[in-house]
Amino acid sequence: MIHFPTVPEEMGNSKEVLEETWRELEKLYDNEKIRALGVSNFCCDDLENLLEICSIRPHIIQSEFHPCQNPAQLRQLCDEVDITFCGYCPLAKGRILHLDQIAKIAKNHKKTPAQICIRWSIQNGVCAIPKSRKPVRIMENSLVFDFELTEAEMYELNNLHLKESLKVVNLSSIQERMDLPDGYKL
Ligand SMILES: NC(=O)c1ccc[n+]([C@@H]2O[C@H](COP(=O)([O-])OP(=O)(O)OC[C@H]3O[C@@H](n4cnc5c(N)ncnc54)[C@H](OP(=O)(O)O)[C@@H]3O)[C@@H](O)[C@H]2O)c1
Repeated sequence: MIHFPTVPEEMGNSKEVLEETWRELEKLYDNEKIRALGVSNFCCDDLENLLEICSIRPHIIQSEFHPCQNPAQLRQLCDEVDITFCGYCPLAKGRILHLDQIAKIAKNHKKTPAQICIRWSIQNGVCAIPKSRKPVRIMENSLVFDFELTEAEMYELNNLHLKESLKVVNLSSIQERMDLPDGYKL
């Protein structure tokens, strides 16, 4: 995956750099060195620019996705052009688990707020990649296939971002962080 669409200023024209990068990924794919290719943190415009020049479309896009960050337009574009949408930070790094709306639904199902967020992703057809350092939470986060959110609950969570918008990964000042090792940039 291309991790994000921003190119370090010293590398010059970002459109050209992104195109060259994509061509190299396409070659790896053609030579069967990789089985899929994708992008991350691309918005609709970034994706449309890529779709104009690519020979092989991204198979997957990874984007922030949780009840307080629900990029409907980007998901619709992905549906239309058959790109799998994968949601990262499905728990918003733990920062939305206290919200009343999520806690109330968790109580209804005797589940935890984290399980509600993951189940919400899954019922939206989005693969979720939660992370925890604690084995007990990794187990908890996997136990999301024995219940179903109702239509009303899905509606409430689908619209939560309109009242409680939150983006936990900030790309706006990424140029200043380009010198940091990978993994520390975002
Ligand atoms: N493509 C990108 O640009 C991008 C950007 C960000 C993240 N990601 C990927 O997305 C995945 C998840 O990201 P993330 O770790 O930032 O966010 P996350 O999964 O939304 O949240 C992880 C945080 O939630 C806590 N947590 C996990 N399970 C919990 C539970 N059941 N109850 C309460 N708290 C819980 C964790 O703490 P403990 O560890 O203490 O349990 C950790 O602080 C990772 O694989 C990451 O690489 C991709």
